[in-house]
Amino acid sequence: MSFDVLTAEHVGFRYADVPVLNHVNLRVESGSVTALTGANGSGKSTLLHLLAGVAQPTEGTIHRRPGTRLALLPQRTGDIDALPLTVTECVQIGRFTLRRRLSREDRTSVMKIMQRLEIAHLARRRLRELSGGQRQRTLIAQALVQDADVYLLDEPTAALDTHSRQQVHELLAEHVATGAAAVIASHDPAETALAEHTIHLER
Ligand SMILES: Nc1ncnc2c1ncn2[C@@H]1O[C@H](COP(=O)(O)OP(=O)(O)OP(=O)(O)O)[C@@H](O)[C@H]1O
Ligand SMILES: [Mg+2]
Repeated sequence: MSFDVLTAEHVGFRYADVPVLNHVNLRVESGSVTALTGANGSGKSTLLHLLAGVAQPTEGTIHRRPGTRLALLPQRTGDIDALPLTVTECVQIGRFTLRRRLSREDRTSVMKIMQRLEIAHLARRRLRELSGGQRQRTLIAQALVQDADVYLLDEPTAALDTHSRQQVHELLAEHVATGAAAVIASHDPAETALAEHTIHLER
């Protein structure tokens, strides 16, 4: 049985005086994929930030089902290159909590997802020593290794080749099959076709 994990009602947002989102309504159900589409600058990334709670709407409300665990893959992730993280460490971040050390199960999950996304051979490399697609696969692994109820993914596969893109979609489908929800901003019609629902934002 599916249930609502995340809803947005009449959500509006403005950066200072610049209105970006207006009266956005959205209902995200468990075990479903929602695509966010719209031209450059239409507000997809902004809406994902609001859904994730890293920014607050200037109008309307966002409701998260209590206890919902969110994983966000931002579009802009350049800041992380300043840290001397290896690929493994970067993926492990997806499993960190303040309460306990990484368990054997956490390490197994990290290893498995690195194998699935074909970055295991890059384990000891620093992020800034990777190609664009290898780096993006590492960040996708960090997001998808989380045991989340909702995955908020901002153009996750924009930099990926066809094979890698397919691997990401397979992993995502496995999460969704076990009840997780995904909201994916994308310009790729093949990717948005995977979604049951589409929210199109007008500029
Ligand atoms: N920090 C900011 N301060 C002011 N304006 C911003 C800021 N971030 C984004 N904007 C503006 O808000 C609007 C929406 O931006 P947003 O990044 O959400 O669009 P998007 O749909 O994700 O675009 P893209 O397809 O290019 O990723 C744009 O007009 C952008 O210029
Ligand atoms: Mg964007």
